[in-house]
Amino acid sequence: MSSTPGDIASIVKSALNAIKGASDLAAIKLVKIEHLGDKSALAKASQSLGSLAPDQKAEFGKIVGAGKAEVNSAFEARVTQLELERDARVLVEERVDVTLPASKLPKGGLHPLTILTNEISDLFLGLGYRVAEGPELESEWLNFDALNIPADHPARTMQDTFFVEPLDAKLVLRTHTSPVQIRTMLENKPPIYVICPGRTYRADELDATHTPVFSQVEGLVIDRGITMADLKGTLDYFAQAMFGPDVKTRLRPSFFPFTEPSAEVDFFFNGRWVEWGGCGMVNPKVLQVCGIDTDEFSGFAFGMGLERTLMVRHGITDMHDIVEGDIRFTKAFGLGGR
Ligand code: PHE
Repeated sequence: MSSTPGDIASIVKSALNAIKGASDLAAIKLVKIEHLGDKSALAKASQSLGSLAPDQKAEFGKIVGAGKAEVNSAFEARVTQLELERDARVLVEERVDVTLPASKLPKGGLHPLTILTNEISDLFLGLGYRVAEGPELESEWLNFDALNIPADHPARTMQDTFFVEPLDAKLVLRTHTSPVQIRTMLENKPPIYVICPGRTYRADELDATHTPVFSQVEGLVIDRGITMADLKGTLDYFAQAMFGPDVKTRLRPSFFPFTEPSAEVDFFFNGRWVEWGGCGMVNPKVLQVCGIDTDEFSGFAFGMGLERTLMVRHGITDMHDIVEGDIRFTKAFGLGGR
């Protein structure tokens, strides 16, 4: 059965209606299959042209061709329109308001003491030192005896020690980082160049300038021909790195059982002398305990408090700020150096 021009007109009309009625891109896809696909009425009309007589074929072919062209262009136009509608809708629906306040995930930070410890470690690593560490729960022998502080020595009570039960285990919370000197000398042959940063404990009340848990950094050098001049030069270098290039240090005579001679080291900062720590030439008795030949080797040691270093450098007046862990403090003082 062959189509008539009237059939074509109605086929075209229903295709155009379907195209017009397609309300989104999914619907127009189905319209395409039904009205423009291989099995559509228009395609069938096209196929039936072959069986017509030549004169009819030309005339009818024109009608079918024109119908196809009309449906195709209506289809293209509708697709373009639906795409524009979709894009406009997506722009509205998926709009990001860049002016809305962002949800903030605060960045973690290091405690100022950690930053200072890292800074000091880097400084001395640059001078060829190693960083040595030891346990905070330390044997009494390493914390005192090996450092020439015998049981009946007043120096033992100079440092208010936390003794740990059971007492006959002879363990203490280390009162200074100096036992790491001993550990290092027992485990290594000189030359020795180490710094030992770490936490230390003394039975003090927490107040504006004291804390029972504090931090020290110990320096130890054992080599041939080491003198007090080397100690002074190293302390100057250290102080200048901490407090600025114009900072001066001075040594005042003092006493520590493990150094001889011993000194307190002060530095001049913001118009005043500030006590920084203890130092001296390692007592030969200590070297001997560690099996170091005192005819060949000598050395120096120093030890200072990190809280004090931080407080002076940053003008922090209350120790509570350092120990309480308020992140407003960490943010203000913990981000980078001086
Ligand atoms: N360990 C001493 C203290 O805590 C400080 C010190 C270290 C002194 C090294 C001399 C040499 O008081």
